[in-house]
Amino acid sequence: AQVQSILADKVAAAKNMAFVFDIDGVLVHGDRLIPEGKRVLAMLNGDNQLGIKIPHIFLTNGSGKPELARTKQLSGILGSEISTEQFIQSHTPMRALAQYYNTVLVVGGEGYRCRDVAEEYGFRDIVVPNDILAWDPSIAPYRVFTEAERASARPRDFSKTNIDAILVFSDSRDYATDMQIIVDLLRSENGRLGTMAKDPESQRIPIYFSQGDLLCPTEHPIPRMSQGAFRIGLEAMYKALTGVELERVVYGKPELATYKYADEVMAAWMDALHGEERVPENVYMIGDNPASDIVGGNMYGWNTCLVRTGVFQGGENDEENPASFGVFANVWEAVTTACRKEL
Ligand code: G3P
Ligand code: MG
Repeated sequence: AQVQSILADKVAAAKNMAFVFDIDGVLVHGDRLIPEGKRVLAMLNGDNQLGIKIPHIFLTNGSGKPELARTKQLSGILGSEISTEQFIQSHTPMRALAQYYNTVLVVGGEGYRCRDVAEEYGFRDIVVPNDILAWDPSIAPYRVFTEAERASARPRDFSKTNIDAILVFSDSRDYATDMQIIVDLLRSENGRLGTMAKDPESQRIPIYFSQGDLLCPTEHPIPRMSQGAFRIGLEAMYKALTGVELERVVYGKPELATYKYADEVMAAWMDALHGEERVPENVYMIGDNPASDIVGGNMYGWNTCLVRTGVFQGGENDEENPASFGVFANVWEAVTTACRKEL
């Protein structure tokens, strides 16, 4: 009976903890597996002494693909099924904006993939920069617009359409073109290309960015500029041209709204997994980037674990944003240490 009650306590403790995983630099590098990531997910999915599923969700600043496409790809790399119901990309919470805006400009990402993302989110009328170029290539004087790009673009007379909002979903593949079109729209009368607003503030359409990371680690030895750098460039251009500050909304880690959204996802996932719709008390965020994963997790009251497999290259702990639960060699060390503490 005593063994049974110890076991019941451990099962209850397992249901009262949850992990939130960053993806790039913790579980994978791009499409390359970090081996400890595979081991960790197998363990949390039931390959453990209790034979119980320990709740976990994924919270990434990654972007550019529909959730189903990205979770399928990650499931293949990590060898564990990842559900879209436990998965948040930087632009996932932006789904809620579909009810507020009819015509939106969606910026960033490879080819026309972000159009697919916006379609899946339920946006009704989606414009991408290539649609505008196909209508009037002179809008971006230095851009070489290929026939293949033209063939899949959806031009129309944009002097007759108001664009209601700008949504930067992913990294711009062509800063010059995207910045030109965005600045044109921000300076226009209510999002009508070809016009110039008399009052830059009252007639300005809103702009949203899916995340704010300045830098992103890639194959290149020095991290490359990411959406945050693109945004800062835009803000400076806009200020120089109009004399007013650009108001904007940023999603993704470490923004508070994203953590609140994560809580909702976690409660729903707990319900799917254990039939209990609630947020477990002991949440552990595992991340590699002190400036997004750790600072956001700390502000939100989660236990934070910094791993050495990604952006963080420092000493004992990050000086500006120290991880509250500690620094670990990799995700396996972090997760097993947390499990030993809680179970
Ligand atoms: O910086 C963009 C993205 O690659 C970061 O992804 O999973 O580390 O939040 P993640
Ligand atoms: Mg990361």
